[in-house]
Formats: sequence, C-alpha cells, structure tokens
Amino acid sequence: MKHFLSLDSFSKTELQLIFEQALAMKAAQKRGETTFMLPNQTLTMIFEKPSNRTRLSFDIGMTQLGGSAYYVKGDEVGLGTRESVEDVSRVVSRYSDFIMLRTFRHEVLEKFAKVATVPVINGLTDQSHPCQAVTDFLTIIEHKPNWQESKVVYVGDGNNVCESLIKVCDIMNVSITVACPKGYEPKTLSSFLTVTDDVSAAVSNADVIYTDVWVSMGQEDEHEERVTIFKPYQVTMNLLKQAKPDVIFMHCLPAERGFEVTDEVMESSHSVIFDQAENRLHAQKAIITMLGGVSYE
Ligand code: CP
Ligand code: NVA
Repeated sequence: MKHFLSLDSFSKTELQLIFEQALAMKAAQKRGETTFMLPNQTLTMIFEKPSNRTRLSFDIGMTQLGGSAYYVKGDEVGLGTRESVEDVSRVVSRYSDFIMLRTFRHEVLEKFAKVATVPVINGLTDQSHPCQAVTDFLTIIEHKPNWQESKVVYVGDGNNVCESLIKVCDIMNVSITVACPKGYEPKTLSSFLTVTDDVSAAVSNADVIYTDVWVSMGQEDEHEERVTIFKPYQVTMNLLKQAKPDVIFMHCLPAERGFEVTDEVMESSHSVIFDQAENRLHAQKAIITMLGGVSYE
C-alpha cells in the first residue's frame, strides 16, 4: 500500500503515468463518458484549514469515479486534542478506502499515515502541496508541448506550493528558478533549481511565471511584515513583458489580487489559472486510482 504524502516517493515513470491517465480521464469527461473506476469506494477528507478547490475537486472526483467522499472539519475531529492522531487514523481507516488530510505540521500527516491501513493523501501541509504540484505540471504539459525545454520561474514566498513545484520539476528534469527575498528561500534542493532575489533577471526568457500568496494559511499574524517584504515581488504586466512573449501565468489560488499579482495579469491572455484549478479534478482522479491499484492498461 502506498501513501501520497510527498513527491519524494514517486519516480518520473510513475508521474508520467499519472499525467497520461489524468489527460485520458479529462478527455473522457469532456466526451461525456463515465469513468467509474472506483465503484462504491469512499474517501474521507479531514480539513484543519479552509479550502475551495481541494475539497470540491476530491469530492466531485470521487463521484465521477463511482464512489463518494465525506468531509470532516478538523476542529470537530480534534486531531491530537479530542483524540490522539493515531486513534483518529485507525478509526477512519476502518470506514474508508482512502483518506485525505489537510493539516498544519507535516509531522502530523506522517504520524497519521504511519498507522493508517488505507492510502493517505496530503491535501496540503505547511511543508508541501503535492496534489497541487502534479496538477501544475499537468497544466504545463497541456500548454507547453516542448515542456522538457521550459524555464519555470516561481516568484514570491518559498512556501509549501513552491517546495512541491521544485520537487515535481526535479523529478521531471525541468529547470526552475525561484525569485524570493532573502530569508524566504525554499529548503528543497535540486540540481535543476536556481534561487535568486533578482526578480527581473529570474523572469528573463521564462516560459512559465508562477506565484502564490505572500501570507499562507496559519501566517495571518505576519501579514503586515510580509506585505512590505514581498512588495518588489508582485507579478505585474511589466514583469510578464520581460519573459518570453508566450509566457503563461500560473497561480494555485486563492489569490490576493493586488498583492502577489495584479488584476490585469490574472485576467490577461497569459493566465491559465482556471485551467489549473480545473485540472485538480483530473490530476487527483489519476492519483487516487493509482493508489487504489486500478490498472491503467
Ligand atoms: N489551491 C488550493 O489548494 O486551493 P484550496 O485551498 O481552495 O483548496
Ligand atoms: N501557500 C498557500 C497555498 C494555498 C492553496 C497556503 O498554504 O495557504
């Protein structure tokens, strides 16, 4: 049994299979075909932070696969407060075929997965967001037929989304540059990664410009300080003009318009943010069927 806690335990071949399967399921969906690959199977989703995309894409994705999903709010379960993390995991494992957990500390997810008897999926921790990264790469493949040669540039905070994006680029052997203020660098190491605080130099020749919020969930107390520090890293039309003419703009959403990105960029023809959001559905259906041992042949 395999969990989906981080991209570390996935090879290039496995990720390629996920991308192929996601694209096949997306095409089937567009043709109006059913893809009941997990009939009557259940996913329990525990959220200790808010969500729009992750919750809905997993829930609707399970329905499209012939199964169902159940949403539980973290403060109701009381992971580690009302009950031990391990006891919750053992109990939920008895009811479900899959579990998705969105939590703060990555160690809690690991503790949960250690005793789970069904596959556990990382729905975002302070450290990583692997479902998002798989989706992001799928979106790059769709928009950049020569994705192998692409230069991906992430501008902003070296946060969970950035860390997973570096990881997926590393596995897929695609070069990525992160432009961030000193002290906010990502921790993930990769021979495909360049880190700089010079945003103009970073975006030169970029095929993809990606950003995320300056203040992640759980960092609300740092809002004022972060907004000041990250101000020079706002993605503007002027920044996009310094990249390749066909550069695409990506954001995992939710966005704080007027902070990390302008309205103009969000609404521009470069923006693929809603393709990205849609692809959460298909990428996660591919991930969950793979974890469920569904044969793709
Ligand atoms: N991108 C993403 O994970 O969005 P939600 O927080 O709305 O799930
Ligand atoms: N970095 C953001 C991503 C939200 C999907 C956060 O953790 O809040």
